[in-house]
Parts: sequence; C-alpha cells; structure tokens
Amino acid sequence: MMRFCVIGYPIEHSLSPRIHNRAFRRLKIDAHYEAISVKPRDLGSFIRKFRKNFTGANVTIPYKERVIKFLDALSPEALAIGAVNCIVNRGGKLVGYNTDVYGVMEALRKVKRQNAKGKSVTKKLKVSFLKGEKVVVLGAGGAARAVVYGLKKAGAEVTILNRTLARAKKLAKEFKCSYMSLRGRLPVGRSNLAFDILINTTSVGMKAKVKNATPETPFPGLFAAFRAVQKKPVVMDIVYTPRMTKLLRDAKHAGCKIITGDKMFLAQAAKSFELWTGTRPKFMKL
Ligand code: ATR
Repeated sequence: MMRFCVIGYPIEHSLSPRIHNRAFRRLKIDAHYEAISVKPRDLGSFIRKFRKNFTGANVTIPYKERVIKFLDALSPEALAIGAVNCIVNRGGKLVGYNTDVYGVMEALRKVKRQNAKGKSVTKKLKVSFLKGEKVVVLGAGGAARAVVYGLKKAGAEVTILNRTLARAKKLAKEFKCSYMSLRGRLPVGRSNLAFDILINTTSVGMKAKVKNATPETPFPGLFAAFRAVQKKPVVMDIVYTPRMTKLLRDAKHAGCKIITGDKMFLAQAAKSFELWTGTRPKFMKL
C-alpha cells in the first residue's frame, strides 16, 4: 500500500486526509493519506523516515519554505516561488513542487455569473484579466510566495502587507512589489491605497489557531473601511477551516464579492493527486 501524508504544525485543521482518501477509494488505488504533526525541531528526522516509507506529501504551515533544504530537486516553478507544498518521492529522490500557485489562479479565475435564463453558472476567466489589477496580499510566508508569483506572472500590481515588515520587504524586493506593515488595519481612506482584490495568506482566522487566542481576522477594520467605499474589492481567503472566516463574513457584510478558501484548497489538492498518481480526480469536494 502506498502511503501519503500532510505535514504541518498545527495540522489538526487539515481536511486533506478526508479528500485524498476518498479519491483513492473512488479510483480503487491502494493508498492511505494521513495528517502528521511535525514539531519544528523534528522536520529533518521526519523527512528521513518519509524517504523510506512514503510516496508523497503535502506541506503546510509553517514548513513550505523550510522543507526545501531537505529535498533533492525542485520543479522550475517551486524553485522560482521558493516554496513547496507538494513532495513526490521518486524511488528515494524527493522532488518538491508548488501546486498552490495553480490553486490560487483557479480560484481567482472562476466566477459565478447569471446566464440569460437567470441561472447561476460558473465561468472561467483568462488569467489575463489580472493584468494591471491592484492586488493587496496579506502575509509574506510560504503561501504568500505562491500567490505573489502567480499574480505577478499574470501582470497584476501587488502590494504585500505583513506583520513582520522585514519579511514583507524581502518578498516585495524579490518579486518587484510594494509593501507595508500589517498593523491590524489597512490604510483605506488614509492614503490612496485603492485596490481591486485582497487576498489573505496568513493563518489568522484558522480554527486551530483561533483556539490559541490569535486574532480572528487579519484586518479587524475591514467592514467599517469598505462600507463607505464605492468600488468594493473582491476579498479572498486561503484559510478554509472555517469556510466562512471572520474576514470573509466582514467583507460580505460590507458588500464585497468573496472567494472562499476551499476553492484554492481543492484545486491544489487535485493537482498534487495528479503528480502522485498520474490521474486527475474530477470529483474532489469537501
Ligand atoms: P506558510 O508557509 O503556510 O505561509 P508561514 O511561512 O509560517 O506559513 O507564514 C505565515 C504567515 O502568517 C506570515 O505572513 C505570518 O506573519 P509573520 O511573517 O509576521 O510571522 C502570518 N501570521 C501568522 N500569525 C499571525 C498573526 N497572529 N497576525 C498577523 N499575521 C500572522
């Protein structure tokens, strides 16, 4: 039996085992997927065990960047992004991929529209719709790297906001973006930072984290800030547990269009599954 896993810390929130095990069953693939909590000091020793016993893995918070030094090769995209969320074990050689970038672009491209009969249909936009769009990215970690890379490649103008300013500055320099400090609120109204899309890539709002008394939203002032703004941005969260995070609830309340985190999560999962098995599951859902 092939073994797969997702590693992270914390990992309890992950729905990856559920969706991948369901796909293995449906496709009659003899494999099992589990969530493994790996403490930061144990990452190296875990990867040694992984090399012997597992066929593939997903990597999540906080290891998307840190795992790279334990791998043997990277896909060109993972190398350009500087973060890995999917590992394939090819006979003992560990290759790192980034399927987050595919996931975020898929999530941004799919829009619900009403057809002529008034029925809601999903349409897929060309990535070129992002050309010249002003996008604010909250966070500067491994997930942010994939998001910023995808956006810049599509021609968007990106501003990175992060709690730790030095990290925002480093990422902004690398990908030719602007940056600012994330101090709990955006300078909407205070400056001319008008934007079309806001994407949260921080872990703020995640169920497992909220229990540990972290703030519930990376942007507490969102509702008040956007209520009076005429052209409201689209707000996307990459956190998917819960599906309706506080950030998205506030955004919806303020009249913004929202994109929930499950869209990116499912798309990156399908792409990872394809890299491991060569089969594209069409039915992945939560
Ligand atoms: P990942 O690789 O999954 O992106 P990460 O590299 O640990 O995980 O990055 C997590 C991101 O969430 C970072 O941008 C982090 O901000 P810092 O660089 O300041 O650490 C952000 N983050 C985590 N907890 C936060 C909190 N309580 N408030 C604001 N930002 C937070």
